[in-house]
Formats: sequence, C-alpha cells, structure tokens
Amino acid sequence: MAFLQMKSYAGRLLLTVLLGLFLSCESKVTNTSKKEESKDPIAYKIDSILSNMSLEEKIGQTAQRGKSSRVKELPKDLKEAVRKGQIGSFLNIMNKEDAKELQMLAVEESPNKIPLIFARDVIHGFKTIFPIPLGQAASFNPMLVQEGARVAAIEASTSGIRWTFAPMLDISRDPRWGRIAESAGEDPYLTGVMAEAYIKGFQGEDLSSPTSMAACAKHFIGYGAAEGGRDYNTANINENLLHNVYLKPFKIAVNAGSATFMTSFNDLNGVPASANKYILKDILRDEWGFDGFVVSDWNSIIEMINHGFAKDKKEAAEKSINAMLDMEMTSASYQDYLKELIEEGKFSEKKLDVIVRNILRIKFRLGLFHNLYFDSNDTILYDKKHLASAQESAAESTVLLKNINNLLPINSKKKLAIIGPLANAPHEQLGTWTFDGEKEHTITPLKSFQQDGQYTIQYSEGVSYSRDKSTKGFGNAINTAKSSDVILFFAGEEAILSGEAHSRANINLPGVQEELINELHKTGKPIVLVIMAGRPITLGNIIDKVDAVLMAWHPGTMGGPALKNIITGVVSPSGKLPVTWPKEVGQIPIHYNHKNTGRPVIPEEFVHMDSIPIAAWQSSLGNTSHYLDAGFLPQYPFGYGLSYSNFKYSDVRISSANPKIGDTITVKTIITNTGNIKAKETVQLYFRDMVGSLTRPVKELLRFKKVTLEAGASKEVIFNFSTDDVSFYGQDKLWVTEPGDFKLWVSKHSMDEANELEFTLE
Ligand code: BGC
Repeated sequence: MAFLQMKSYAGRLLLTVLLGLFLSCESKVTNTSKKEESKDPIAYKIDSILSNMSLEEKIGQTAQRGKSSRVKELPKDLKEAVRKGQIGSFLNIMNKEDAKELQMLAVEESPNKIPLIFARDVIHGFKTIFPIPLGQAASFNPMLVQEGARVAAIEASTSGIRWTFAPMLDISRDPRWGRIAESAGEDPYLTGVMAEAYIKGFQGEDLSSPTSMAACAKHFIGYGAAEGGRDYNTANINENLLHNVYLKPFKIAVNAGSATFMTSFNDLNGVPASANKYILKDILRDEWGFDGFVVSDWNSIIEMINHGFAKDKKEAAEKSINAMLDMEMTSASYQDYLKELIEEGKFSEKKLDVIVRNILRIKFRLGLFHNLYFDSNDTILYDKKHLASAQESAAESTVLLKNINNLLPINSKKKLAIIGPLANAPHEQLGTWTFDGEKEHTITPLKSFQQDGQYTIQYSEGVSYSRDKSTKGFGNAINTAKSSDVILFFAGEEAILSGEAHSRANINLPGVQEELINELHKTGKPIVLVIMAGRPITLGNIIDKVDAVLMAWHPGTMGGPALKNIITGVVSPSGKLPVTWPKEVGQIPIHYNHKNTGRPVIPEEFVHMDSIPIAAWQSSLGNTSHYLDAGFLPQYPFGYGLSYSNFKYSDVRISSANPKIGDTITVKTIITNTGNIKAKETVQLYFRDMVGSLTRPVKELLRFKKVTLEAGASKEVIFNFSTDDVSFYGQDKLWVTEPGDFKLWVSKHSMDEANELEFTLE
C-alpha cells in the first residue's frame, strides 16, 4: 500500500491551530458567523488559519484549476501557483502522481499549508461503471443507488479524488435534452430520494474517512428546463414551478448533507444562475441554511458576458462574488479581479472571509487537514463485490415495456439470433460521463451469452454502430435471423449521443436501425428489442414490428450478464420508468404531473384528425387539450414497467378519512405475487389535491416501496406521510397545507387508477 502522509506538516498544523485558538479571540468575523461558529471546533481552526492568510491566498482558495490531458508534465506555472497558495482545488487531474505532487506542494510549501481538494466527474461509477443515473432511477431502489455511489467513492478515492461533481438533480421533462441521461427523470420526489441515496453513498458515514467523497448537488438551478431541450438554453421557470418542482430535490440534498453545490450554465428568468442572488443567497443560504460551498460550472461566470449580463470578466466576477458564489471552476475572473474589486469597494474582504470559511469548512470536514493520505492500492478497482453490485443495479434498472404472448423469458432450447449495433459495443454500453471506465472490463450481452455456453446463439451485427447508414450487413443479419427461433435485437444510441451538449431533435433510433428491424420483421421470427440509450427513444415506426421491448438505458460494465439473466428468466425485470416516454417528439414536454387545464382530455370525445370530415364546419367542440394527430397518451407512462409475474393489490385502506393538519396519515395495502416466479414490484402512492389556492397537478408521486415476493407470497406495504408532504409553495410565497379534498392512488404506474382512496383534510 502506498500512502501519502504529511507528518511534518501535521506538527506545523498543530502549532498553527494552537496559535489560531489564541488569535481567534481577536479575529474579525461577522457577528452572526462568530455566534454560530463559536460552538464548532472547526470554526476556531478556520479563524486561526484565516487570520494568517493574505488577501492573495484567500482569493486563491476560490480558484479551481484543471490541467489539459494533452499536457504530459505538470506545468511549472501551475506548481508555482500552488506553492504561493493561489489555488484551492483541482479538477480532472488524471494522474495520481500529479495529484500527490501538487498536494505536497500545497501542504509543505504554500504559506498557510492549506490542502487542495481534487475533484472529478464520478457520475455513475469510477472504474466499475453502473447504469447511467436515469437508469439507476428506474430501479426505484435507493439502497442500490447508495451502494453504487459507495463503490464509486471507494474506487475514485484511490486516485486521491475526494470530491465528485454528482449527483445531478435537474428535473428533466424533455428527452431531447442530452443530459436527461444524468438525471433521475421528471419527478421531484423520486429525484429527491435518489439525491439522498447518492449523497449518503458518496459521502459515506463519515466525510472525513479517506474513502469518502464530498457530493456536489448540481446544477443549481433550472438547467433541465432548457428551452427546446437545447443544452445551455434559457430557463423560464415561474415561482410556483421553481419551488414546487425544480428546487425540491436540492432542498433534500441540503438536508442529506451535500457538502457542495454547483451552479448551472443557464439564465434563470433573466438572471444567470452563477450570479443569481435569489437562489444562491436568499434560498440556499438564508432559507435552507446550507453551510458548504458552491462552485460555478465550467467557465459559467465568464459566460455571463455571452449571456449579455456582464460587459467583461471583471463585471462578471463582481456579479458572481456578490451573489456569494464561492469557487470559480476553470476561468480566472476571481483571481484576476477580486483584489481590484475589493480595493474599489465593490466587494469586501469581510465577505470574502465568509466565502473562504465555506471552502475551508468542507476541507476540514473531509479531514484533509489531518489525514492527507490516500490508499492508492488499485486492487480494489473492479472488485468482485463492485461488479456484483453493478450487475444488480443494471438488472434492476432494466424496464420491460412490452411482452406479447410472454415471449420473454426465453428458454434455453431456442436458437437465438443476436443482432444489432449495441449487442457487442463495450464502450457504448458504459454511457455518458465515464472518463475512467474501461471498455476492456465491460461485459457485453454477446460476450455474456458466449461465456454462458448454454444457449445456441448466432451473431450478426447488421449495422456496425448506431448511426451507421450502410445496409451492407442486412443480408447476413436476415440470414442469421431466418435460421434462428428468436431475434434479440440490441439497438439504441452510442454513448456520445447523450450527455452534455448532445441534445437531439429527433429521438428515433438513429441510422438504419429501424429499416433493419423492418426487414427482420419480414422473416416472421419474433423480435425482442433491447434498447441501450441515454433517453427514451420514440418507437412509433417500429413498435408494432417487435414483440417484446426491454429498456436497458446504458447499463454499464455489467450490462451484459444483467441482460442475459433477464432475457433468460433468471431474474424478472423490475425497473419502472422515471420519465414519461413520448410517442412522438412533438408531444414534448410531456410529464405525468401536469395541471388539469380548463379543458382536460375526455378520451371518449377525442377525434383523430383522420376522422374529421373534409370541409368540416369550424368548431372547437369536442376538442380538449390534445394533439389531433398524436392524441393525448404517451407511449408509456411514468412509473410503468412490466414483470414476468403478476401482482394483485388488495385491502387498500387509509388510517383516517378526515385527518387534521399535522397528522400522520397511513395507507396500507396487501400485495400478492400471483405469478409463478420470484419477482420485485414497486408499489407507488400518488395523490391529488383536488382544489388549491394555486392549481395543483393531476397527480404527484408521494411515496414508493420496492418489495421482493416469492411466487404466491403476500406482503403488507405501509406508507406513512405527514400533511406537510401534500403542502405546496403558494401565492403568498410560503409553504401551505390547505384543508380540503384529496385523492390517493395505490398504483402500478402513474396512469393506474384502480385503487383509489379519498380523504378530507380538516
Ligand atoms: C458540466 C458539469 C461538470 C463540469 C466539470 C461542465 O461542463 O456541466 O456538470 O461537472 O463540466 O467537468
């Protein structure tokens, strides 16, 4: 084991701390922070360091720098800056020897010996890659998500990475937006549950443990509401939506102890997030009491010049620092202009101290001042337990969307034709934001079937990558299909087609995949379509040509064995959609938790445009909020996902039909696995506030529980919630719980209304 230890440094630190303890009596801190922090031993230590720091060094703490991967050696000027205490953090230092060298310079040679924090985008795994976050959300299993984040932290910390830029908590109602892949989908409650799971997993039980990473709730805020799903675009979000939908998961992240936050690139209602006092100060600090630090996104401070919000870098720095944005990622406007701004009275050193305190507080909580070693033992990477956990996560993320005549699972006597560009694409199945994942360690579905050896398989890729427009492989694929019993078609998008800046206007299967499916359909062989993609894919052109559909997202390192087990029935699928799946792009944005409108859909009265007589009299009668061509239904609703088993819900009941504000309400049901296979089911509880002083959504997810049931077994599922859980941010800019009528549904998905309950809040 190689350790990086700072023994001599520790001695000096002790002296500094003791001196600081003495000095802190005199230190000039604001009254509030002095009062609050006087109880906290870390605060004394920070005071003591702060009192020794020069202005230049304080500004240094706000700087986060990177090193281009194309530059081999650590540049001299970068080392010099660390030596002078001009850098507080690094991102994306790929090489751990470099990380060690920089850290040594900081703690041995910089004026106040303040350690650096090394950050990285460890989004869904470091080496062992888990499904993309949208896939993990589909598992509806926060324990698994927490476990995945823990594995990521254990592996990444071997490279000295103690800060990850995750989880991404942007509510995404637009699958054109490439970064939907990194989100937990469209629902604020589900995203909040996932937020807590990721944060607990990354940060571990003790943030100061060398295998813990500080989490970063991002992107604050509104990034997922980008106009037209075009990345970086403007977000116009009214107060009601901002509080009731977009902010919710971030509040949960604060409560779960997220050490840091990251601002978003977008302009929110005219004010770029990186200089938005309302969100950064009024909400995050004053209302929620967040005491970690906030980092900008990559260059997002100086990008305010492009936004037309600052005339130059200096003005950009002035606006962001006055919004109390603590750390600047990559650009250097703080470094170049903060001193001048302070001298000109446009910002104060006292306020800068608050910012430096925020940053040092997290460095202390990470234990960086006491314990700088990291275990750089690589043998933990791809540990068997990590791979098993990644496989379980991939299996539970997979959603069965269609299964005509119970084509799935497939028994071992059938001859399988494995076809399609994602059947054996080890790099692609890792998905977006996987800088450290290695395709050599990925097990693809083809490899997994080959390794298993029990199945008669034939392989023909048909098209070699998802965007491939060549049909030259069709002949072979068709022949392969003809000599098999069932076609397993692995379709989708390459990893590069989703993620940052990778929005798509057309979200069909790219290239000639649809054409190949059409040709394969003509063989008369049943087709199982397995999709690997970073977003829902519109399937209108081919959905009737396939018999079964499995959505595997980008499933990560162990996607192959997970999918093989599902296809062959070793595991029953249990994923549920964390996002509404549109039939057509024109329906977007489409989400289950919409408002009712004055003319809600009346299914019986819907008239498709093809049924309108020619030269019809101009009338809106019978027309409600729908499309004449696409209708009003999505392809699949939020929360939807089939199983190889069936589940019966019975004895659905509520503790009281007339609860009072402040009461805890209990909903119970008995769930029975009526099939003949062990399976998991996610029981979902939705509510609707029937009348509000602000219009309320037609449905909102309130609770969910994933249960495992042996064939024939029953279990009681109990949901408790408080009346606060049905409150909303109202017209008076306060959270209110209003008396009145509520409906509840204990459901299999967001459109299932079989088990309805009612209560009247008094
Ligand atoms: C992304 C962030 C990411 C950062 C650092 C930015 O482009 O928006 O999510 O954490 O880069 O890599």
